[in-house]
Amino acid sequence: MIEIVGLKKILDDTVVLNGIDLKIEKNKTTVVIGESGCGKTVLLKHIIGFFKPDEGEIFCDGERIDTLSWKGWNALRRKMTMVFQNSALFDWLSVYDNVALPLREQLNLPEKEIAEQVEEKLGMVGMAGQNKKMPAELSFGMQKRVSLARAMILNPEYILYDEPTTGLDPIIANSIIELFSAFKKTYHTTSLIVSHDISIVFKIADKVALMKNGSIIFQGSVDDLGKEENSYIKKFISR
Ligand SMILES: Nc1ncnc2c1ncn2[C@@H]1O[C@H](COP(=O)(O)OP(=O)(O)O)[C@@H](O)[C@H]1O
Ligand SMILES: [Mg+2]
Repeated sequence: MIEIVGLKKILDDTVVLNGIDLKIEKNKTTVVIGESGCGKTVLLKHIIGFFKPDEGEIFCDGERIDTLSWKGWNALRRKMTMVFQNSALFDWLSVYDNVALPLREQLNLPEKEIAEQVEEKLGMVGMAGQNKKMPAELSFGMQKRVSLARAMILNPEYILYDEPTTGLDPIIANSIIELFSAFKKTYHTTSLIVSHDISIVFKIADKVALMKNGSIIFQGSVDDLGKEENSYIKKFISR
């Protein structure tokens, strides 16, 4: 479980995170939603150590992670992976080499084993047989699939994804977010998805947190979100 306690962050004299308490439970898909600018990406960047909290603490499986050294983070990176909104593939590498890259950087495996793992993950995201293609030959949705295969190649326990559906048409967007359910089923991956797109919540969230101006104003089940009487929440979910 990832646990965020009393997280506060001020950037450029503005309170961007105003005391966030959030639990990301194992084997569940948690979706954090909120309007653009409410602090979702800054929150994710705290979990992966890009930002340090001004106040508060972050734990992963009981271990305090916001105070980790660079070395400590390296160990954690295999357990937790993040896909940024614009995380592009390396356009000079083939699909195969893009997906194999984290394996090559982190582990010393024979090429046969690398090939098996790359094939498995490409199959998982519906990109089997596309090994030799270059990123420029793929549609945007296919590029997203390959970047997900790359994110999954080290079998992380946690995958953090910033705005998985932005820039995709609804059918492609659906097929992408369904992959998170598939990862959960096949690999027991715990996903934290951050988005302004409420439709993701109704499709795959086990748990939802709604952010507004740097605070979490609701967290709980999707059913309970639907029962909320707060006018802001009602308006947000009917969009
Ligand atoms: N590196 C930064 N320096 C200063 N302000 C930042 C920085 N990153 C984000 N912000 C500000 O923090 C707020 C929240 O940003 P962000 O987390 O990117 O929002 P969201 O992802 O919910 O759209 C915004 O007002 C943004 O301008
Ligand atoms: Mg963002």
